[in-house]
Amino acid sequence: MSALVFLGGGRITAALVAGLRRTGYRGAVIVHDRHARKLRRLENEFGITGEADLMSAVRAARTLVIAVRPAAVDKLLRQIGNEIKLGRIRKEPFVSVSLAAGVTLAALRTALGSRTHWARAMPSPVCRTGHGLTALAFDRGMPRGKQKEIRRLFARLGDVLVIPEKQFDVFTATYSSSHGYHALAELAGAAEKLGLPRKIALAAGAHALADGIASWRAQPKSLGALIEEAATPGGTAAATIAAMDAHGYGRAILRGLRAGVARAGTRKKVRT
Ligand SMILES: NC(=O)c1ccc[n+]([C@@H]2O[C@H](COP(=O)([O-])OP(=O)(O)OC[C@H]3O[C@@H](n4cnc5c(N)ncnc54)[C@H](OP(=O)(O)O)[C@@H]3O)[C@@H](O)[C@H]2O)c1
Repeated sequence: MSALVFLGGGRITAALVAGLRRTGYRGAVIVHDRHARKLRRLENEFGITGEADLMSAVRAARTLVIAVRPAAVDKLLRQIGNEIKLGRIRKEPFVSVSLAAGVTLAALRTALGSRTHWARAMPSPVCRTGHGLTALAFDRGMPRGKQKEIRRLFARLGDVLVIPEKQFDVFTATYSSSHGYHALAELAGAAEKLGLPRKIALAAGAHALADGIASWRAQPKSLGALIEEAATPGGTAAATIAAMDAHGYGRAILRGLRAGVARAGTRKKVRT
C-alpha cells in the first residue's frame, strides 16, 4: 500500500519512470502491463517491479497512475470498479492520476466512486530529461495534502501548472514536444529544398528555434519586441515572416490545434 503504481507500461510510463529515477526517486515503483516483455524491459532499465496481475498492482498502490490509451481506460476501470464493489480492494480512499487525454474527471469519478480521489495529469516524454512540463487538474474533494504530494511528484520532472480542467484539451493539443520536432522538420526540409545540405539545414533550423526560445525565456522582453529586434524592417527575416503569414502560417496552426482539441475531447465517458 505504499508504491507508485503505473497501469500501462508503454511510452509515457517509460519516460516518467526514467525521469523519476534520474532525479534519484527511490520509492517503490510497480508497473502493470499485459505485455511481459515491456515489464521486463522496465525492470531491467529502471529497477521497477513488474506486476502481471492487475489487482495485485492496485492493492499495492498509494498512488495509482492510469497510463493506458484513452480507449482502454473504460475497460480497465470497470475491472477495478467490480473488485471494489465485491469488497476485494481495501476500504480507504486512494489517489489516482489519469494521464488519458480527453477522459474527464467526472467520468473517472463515476467509474470508481468515492473510493478514489482523482487528478488528471498531462506530461510529455520530455519529462525523461527532468526539463518537462506537466499540467495538473484536481477533482473536487482531493485533500490538500494529496494535491501537494502529486505536485511534488511531477515537479521532480520539470515545471508544473495547475489549470482548470476545461483548459485541458487545448493544453494537450498545444503542449506536445512533437511541435518542436515538426517545426524543425519543416524548417530544415524547406532549407534543404533551397540548397542547404541536410546536416547544415538541421543545425541552422535547430539553433533558430531553440536559441530563439531560450533567449525569450532568459530575459524580460516580450515576444513582439524580440521579433522586432530579430527581423529588421525590409530585411530577410521580415520578408520571410511576412510571406509565411500571407500563406497562412497562423491559420494552419490554429486549424491544427482545433483538430487536436477535437481529437482529445472525443472520449468524455467511462461506462460503469
Ligand atoms: N505518449 C505520450 O507522449 C503521452 C503524453 C501524455 C499523456 N499520455 C497519455 O498516456 C496514456 C498512455 O499513452 P502511451 O503513449 O504510453 O500508450 P502506449 O505506449 O500504448 O502504452 C499503454 C500500454 O498499456 C497497455 N494496456 C492497455 N490496456 C491494458 C490493460 N487493460 N491491462 C494491461 N495493460 C494494458 C498497452 O498494451 P497494448 O499495446 O496491447 O494496448 C500498452 O502496453 C494515454 O492515455 C495518453 O493519452 C501520453
